[in-house]
Amino acid sequence: MCGVIGAVSHEQVGQLLVDGLQRLEYRGYDSAGVVTVSEKGLARLREVGKVRALNQSMQKSPLFGQCGLAHTRWATHGKPTQTNAHPHVSRDSVAVVHNGIIDNCDAIREELLADGYVFASETDTEVIAHAFHQAYGETKDAILALRQTCDRLHGTYAFGLVLRDEPGKLWAACHGSPLVVGIGDQAHYIASDMVALASLTSRYIYLEDGDSVVMTQDHLQIFNKRNQPVTRELHELSLSVGQTSKGEYRHHMLKEIHEQPEVIKNTLAGRLTQEDVLASLFPEEAMTMLEGIDRVQIVACGTSYNAGMVASYWFESIAGIPCQVEIASEYRYRHHVVKDNALFLTISQSGETADTIAALKHAQMFGYQATVTVCNAANSALARLSDYVLLTQAGVEIGVASTKAFTTQLTVLLLLVLGMGQQRQCEGLNVIKQGLALLPESVEKLLDLASQIEPIAQWLSHYQHALYLGRHTCYPIAQEGALKLKEISYIHAEAYPAGELKHGPLALVDENMPIIILAPNDGMIDKLLANVQEVAARGGHLVVLTDAPERFAKSQNTRIIPMPAIMPALVPLLYTVPLQLLAYDVATVLGTDVDQPRNLAKSVTVE
Ligand code: AGP
Repeated sequence: MCGVIGAVSHEQVGQLLVDGLQRLEYRGYDSAGVVTVSEKGLARLREVGKVRALNQSMQKSPLFGQCGLAHTRWATHGKPTQTNAHPHVSRDSVAVVHNGIIDNCDAIREELLADGYVFASETDTEVIAHAFHQAYGETKDAILALRQTCDRLHGTYAFGLVLRDEPGKLWAACHGSPLVVGIGDQAHYIASDMVALASLTSRYIYLEDGDSVVMTQDHLQIFNKRNQPVTRELHELSLSVGQTSKGEYRHHMLKEIHEQPEVIKNTLAGRLTQEDVLASLFPEEAMTMLEGIDRVQIVACGTSYNAGMVASYWFESIAGIPCQVEIASEYRYRHHVVKDNALFLTISQSGETADTIAALKHAQMFGYQATVTVCNAANSALARLSDYVLLTQAGVEIGVASTKAFTTQLTVLLLLVLGMGQQRQCEGLNVIKQGLALLPESVEKLLDLASQIEPIAQWLSHYQHALYLGRHTCYPIAQEGALKLKEISYIHAEAYPAGELKHGPLALVDENMPIIILAPNDGMIDKLLANVQEVAARGGHLVVLTDAPERFAKSQNTRIIPMPAIMPALVPLLYTVPLQLLAYDVATVLGTDVDQPRNLAKSVTVE
């Protein structure tokens, strides 16, 4: 969603800010803008569309100043137009960029209108600029005015602010939306995520909820929500440019699909021991707590929800622990009956998904034994709010369509299930562990399927709709395959448990409805063969992923993607990869924006 970057430096910042916005493009946006402040006042440029349009405007009319802010906007309040693009300005003297949503913006707008402020945009952000202007006029103290402004706002925000009359200073505040401060060489920065600052610094401070900050090129002062000066931990993290660039690949998504063997290996490193797997995942004090867990509630969104669905099958079939899964935006708004000894588990790549964070806060009212998050961002809000964090080692994921984050989530979840299974002395765990140790190699080999998938993708790209079918753990993998296809190719795709076919979706099946079936050679293959016949009898076209191709009649309506034989526990991890490649290839045939699909954002930081 919206991306924020700000800088105050000993050198000119205009181009540096626009370059930072380019690194934030992956978050998803529809307009972009930049403001600098110098002795001559505020100078601003805003463009609808891509950052490159803003860059071109910068080349034509460069902005001067050693302090400034920039922003990519993902429209919530008001259409993606130039006047709604950030930065927003109050009376030529205050400029603001903001990520989040101000819930009470209408009420504040009414008050400010009554006080004579004129609004140029439909955004909620503009109230921050005017409210600050008003408070600063009354207090003549920017820190106090910032606190008074924050106290007036309900909702979530991470915003940066500059003043015409203080060209060497930058202010920022956050509540419910992440904000990181970068410490440079005679420079300080702010950003909504550290990727924006990748080439500028490796020293970061993560602000806490309610913090505000004022910075010059040499000084930094942080205040907590009671306006008391505080210090926050400094983190050294080097994010190489290689981690955020496409390298030799055409798209970030393709690079990330190919990184899976390596990141799965990193996620397993040091954790897949013959002894106690849990000891490698959790601190000592968590062991007794986990031993007493009788049930698990998983909550997540999108791809992370699909990972949770797979885990629920694993928890029950491998570790014998009852497990429920729910979409975070549903969970957060209903009452729950929570039995004793229940574990609450969130899953999130970004750790910043607003619905998942709200669900965790909601869960904290219901007496769960403990909260755990499976997350790819060590300093994210979810990681900070949870009792325990299980980190995936996916590295930075830039493509909006999640790939390597998903398979590393599955890897961590399987480790957790194995660990809890060990505590309960379940059988069959060692075989799974042996298979898991070989998983990076197995995934590597699967990438060779690319040449067989390409012609199928060419064919699939001619359709408007597709159905994905699977049973057991292959059902959530079918969901994930359908999600990938619709996200990046805009082909309408739905997934069903294969047994549901004749309870409705069969009505859709004809020669215009391709069906992708996940058919591992396990106890359910005969049932799937029956589903295949139902489809074939109605002229439907099939793509079958299977390690038993001989079981499927050769016909021009059936295309096979040959899969290796693998133990059932690892089927979901393996069957994901060809579905990612299939979606990617269809999207490239159709020429869509694979890494930044329309309307979508990487981190969904608003409800
Ligand atoms: C995945 O391809 C999606 N872009 C999306 O569904 C994503 O998984 C979802 O928004 C949850 O994000 P999170 O994992 O960062 O919480």
